[in-house]
Amino acid sequence: MNILITLAIFVVCISTIKCISHDLPDYFPRCFIDDPNLNDCLLKAFNTMRPYVKKGVEAVGILPFEPLILPAFAISQDNAAANYSITLWNFTIRGIDNYKVKEINYNPETLIFSTKMEFDDLPLYTMYEMSGRLLHIPLEGKGFQLVTFLGPINATIRVEGELVEVDGVEYYNTTNVKVTESIKDVEVTVQGLFGGDEELGRITNNLLNQFSIESIQTITPALEQFTEEMFMGFMKSLTGSIPYYRIFPKSDN
Ligand SMILES: *[C@@H]1O[C@H](CO)[C@@H](O)[C@H](O)[C@H]1NC(C)=O
Ligand SMILES: *[C@@H]1O[C@H](CO)[C@@H](O)[C@H](O)[C@H]1NC(C)=O
Ligand SMILES: *[C@@H]1O[C@H](CO)[C@@H](O)[C@H](O)[C@H]1NC(C)=O
Ligand SMILES: *[C@@H]1O[C@H](CO)[C@@H](O)[C@H](O)[C@H]1NC(C)=O
Repeated sequence: MNILITLAIFVVCISTIKCISHDLPDYFPRCFIDDPNLNDCLLKAFNTMRPYVKKGVEAVGILPFEPLILPAFAISQDNAAANYSITLWNFTIRGIDNYKVKEINYNPETLIFSTKMEFDDLPLYTMYEMSGRLLHIPLEGKGFQLVTFLGPINATIRVEGELVEVDGVEYYNTTNVKVTESIKDVEVTVQGLFGGDEELGRITNNLLNQFSIESIQTITPALEQFTEEMFMGFMKSLTGSIPYYRIFPKSDN
């Protein structure tokens, strides 16, 4: 399986530790690292954070998630079932803030964080240019595309990291992000296929929707990888700008 994703940077601070050096904003809930109920605290914190995630958190370089707008990126897959390349721009996805956190787990010993989340329908609209095929459906064109991922969408996210010291201060450095997604179904409307040929466009849209479950399974690895790269950017921005013990203070301080 070959998946290639080129993602534009959507956070202010991407790769360097200590790039802004802020504290968590006051309205963020604090969870003490030695709290025996750390996971309950985190679960509550994630739900409290929802309205702020929606609007974005400028202090730590996180752009608004509702809607989430990405200027441009490209995805390609090259295997027997999915062989295409697609460039997307003016990409807008709605409803990401509408999450339910089902489970959350942070182990301060291993520094591994994992969560299970559920999302409702996620509509996205974008300009696209693509060529290739998905299943046996040829795809060729340029124009406007509307896709709705039908929920519930289940996602698990697992983050691994290490503590690194910069100028005597410890930061969490994310080293790996693994995402799995289970999407119930998808509805697609693609305009501008085959140079705007109406008949071919109609047939292709019908086929894509008829084989939507197979299509979504085929492209899920690419979507997972895309989410991993976005989440990695998000983590780097958040934990690269705030010292570890400000995110997770010790209760005796
Ligand atoms: C994908 O398509 C390209 C161009 O049409 C072709 O050269 C390549 O062999 C295809 N790959 C697979 C795995 O079918
Ligand atoms: C895409 O976004 C750019 C910059 O925001 C804007 O100037 C342009 O009109 C948009 N194009 C379309 C087709 O929406
Ligand atoms: C953070 O981890 C990445 C990937 O493992 C590594 O390349 C980078 O050097 C680390 N940063 C620091 C400040 O140690
Ligand atoms: C998501 O998980 C719930 C249980 O939490 C399950 O009922 C549902 O079928 C799952 N949906 C998908 C698309 O996997």
